[in-house]
Amino acid sequence: MHIFQATGFKFTGVKGEDSMQNIYDIVMTRRSQRRYTKDMPNRAVIEKIIDAARWAPSAGNRQNLFWWVAAGKKRDELVEIISQVSDRAGELFKDYEEKVQRFLSLYFRTLGGAPVIVTLSFERKDDAEKDEHFDWDLWDYASGCAAMQNFLLLAHAEGLGTCWMTAPLLVHREIKACLGIPEPHDIVAVTPLGFSQHEIPAIPRVDPDLKKTLKWIGFDQK
Ligand SMILES: Cc1cc2nc3c(=O)[nH]c(=O)nc-3n(C[C@H](O)[C@H](O)[C@H](O)COP(=O)(O)O)c2cc1C
Repeated sequence: MHIFQATGFKFTGVKGEDSMQNIYDIVMTRRSQRRYTKDMPNRAVIEKIIDAARWAPSAGNRQNLFWWVAAGKKRDELVEIISQVSDRAGELFKDYEEKVQRFLSLYFRTLGGAPVIVTLSFERKDDAEKDEHFDWDLWDYASGCAAMQNFLLLAHAEGLGTCWMTAPLLVHREIKACLGIPEPHDIVAVTPLGFSQHEIPAIPRVDPDLKKTLKWIGFDQK
């Protein structure tokens, strides 16, 4: 199967197929999904995804990430909080064309109707334990990003849609209060989780032939 035939919600997972090709398919066919059906993903599947996502590399092997999975009333409260970001849509999306601005503004008000919202946080190292030469908060954030990407890819492999979001961090205090995330935590990202309503066409990558953005240094081979 060609990678671009396997986009979006039609992609049903890796079982029984060639695993090496599949990992490329999964990476290249994941898309940011912004419209979801009301169908609830299975809780055991969400746990399986998180259990695997945390096998990401972790700076200093700190493994200090926490997953906050909200459904029902808490999900509604969270969407209400994040919708405040859409009030700043003009400012945030000023470089996009008007149609896209309207779509994103609606998306921020509804999170695409996704039945589950997942928030990932890391517990900061105590100031007393920090060393002036190491930026632990940055490294912890980077570890969170690695786990987040694992989460997105595994969800996609399970036929579920996601959309990595950092704009909600504009209201990070309110999100932490809503979910009961303790103070020494920083939020890495938020993503809706659910079944995508539509198949999303592949977005071409900038520099498709890697002519400008890949530099070979000290290689003899062509
Ligand atoms: C760090 C990061 C932050 C992002 N924040 C948002 C966001 O707040 N809202 C949103 O709709 N998409 C957000 N995205 C998704 C990007 O817009 C999306 O990845 C990009 O347009 C490429 O589309 P694709 O994911 O379908 O390949 C974010 C992605 C990353 C990596």
